[in-house]
Amino acid sequence: MKKPTYWDYLKLPSLLTLQGGLEEDEARLQPDELHFIVVHQVYELWFKLVLRELRLAIEHLSRPRVPEETIPYVVHHLKRVNEILKLAVDQFRIVETLTPQDFLDFRDKLAPSSGFQSFQMREIEILLGLEDGARARYGATEALSHIREASADSPGGDFALEHVEAARKETTLRQALHAWLYRTPIQGSSAGDAGDGEAVSRFLASYFDAAQKHAAAQQAWLPERLGAEAGAVAARLNDGLASARLFLEAGDAPEAERDTARRVRAGLLFIESYRELPLLAWPRLLVDSIVELEEYLVLWRTRHARMVERTIGRRPGTGGSSGVDYLDQTAKTRIFTELWAVRTLLLPREFLPALENTQSYGFAKA
Ligand code: HEM
Repeated sequence: MKKPTYWDYLKLPSLLTLQGGLEEDEARLQPDELHFIVVHQVYELWFKLVLRELRLAIEHLSRPRVPEETIPYVVHHLKRVNEILKLAVDQFRIVETLTPQDFLDFRDKLAPSSGFQSFQMREIEILLGLEDGARARYGATEALSHIREASADSPGGDFALEHVEAARKETTLRQALHAWLYRTPIQGSSAGDAGDGEAVSRFLASYFDAAQKHAAAQQAWLPERLGAEAGAVAARLNDGLASARLFLEAGDAPEAERDTARRVRAGLLFIESYRELPLLAWPRLLVDSIVELEEYLVLWRTRHARMVERTIGRRPGTGGSSGVDYLDQTAKTRIFTELWAVRTLLLPREFLPALENTQSYGFAKA
């Protein structure tokens, strides 16, 4: 067997000859075009790794029973995703060394191609659990149909489309997370136990009761501190309570899914509220790492939009969107909506309902 070399293992002869652009010839590129191609290719390589890490995490989290020791493994892979995304946000500094005028030298020839056709970004969104109806769109243009149409007469079209379509058949991180949250023991009661439905309802009712007491306590000092009218403060606190009730009862979920959604939310609320319980240490790190993941994705979208604003101003994109306005719209999208919503409901520790069955949480009560 031949001795391996660094360049053969990493396929460098192929990798380093893939930067010829539309001309298939590096010598004919515009002076700053090599920079433009390399940064995009590097991003796509990072996206490739993100997809691999996400699939590993989903595969383990979506098992019907997730042993406790599996959670650190899932968190480990999500942490790698987060580090990549953090770097990906920073990498826009390198993109920004391209001046607006240098970009104008070759921008026109790229149209109508655009990052809007980054099928790996779409795969990431799909694998995380972004639903078609939740996507930002510009005019009648919808991201996935756009890739379907563009793939029809492009040499790499089948490859792009197969990636997106295959991802649509997979279990998403959101689905795996919800199935796992559903099984969270709540006040010592597990999903499937006799009387679990009542135990969950009791916990949710006691939490809402605690939220009301917290609101009443705030009403006592907030108006004076804010110099606001008592009635206005009460209205705001009541709105908060009404949203809390809707969330806890899963009133916003379709009726057929309401019971499941309620237990998922109760599990999430329990993990977030009693995060110091030893048995919840890894679960809360898992939830934290998914919140962080979405935070970085939103930061990526925001940072990309600022870079675009700096480079092309407010003109339309090569893909035909409104440009910065559309991109800012995408930064408002959230996939893990419950993970964000629950934060509005969390209470100071002194208001939390008392823990029951603490021995089942590995928490020795004095
Ligand atoms: C000078 C540099 C860049 C400019 C001016 C730019 C501009 C734009 C614009 C205007 C859009 C909106 C779609 C359109 O109308 O074309 C877009 C979308 C996008 N770009 Fe960039 N971009 C740049 C660099 C990058 C880089 C380095 C990446 C890394 C992969 C990237 C990834 C994306 C993605 C994924 C989208 C789709 C966003 C979405 O629909 O959620 N772009 N870009």
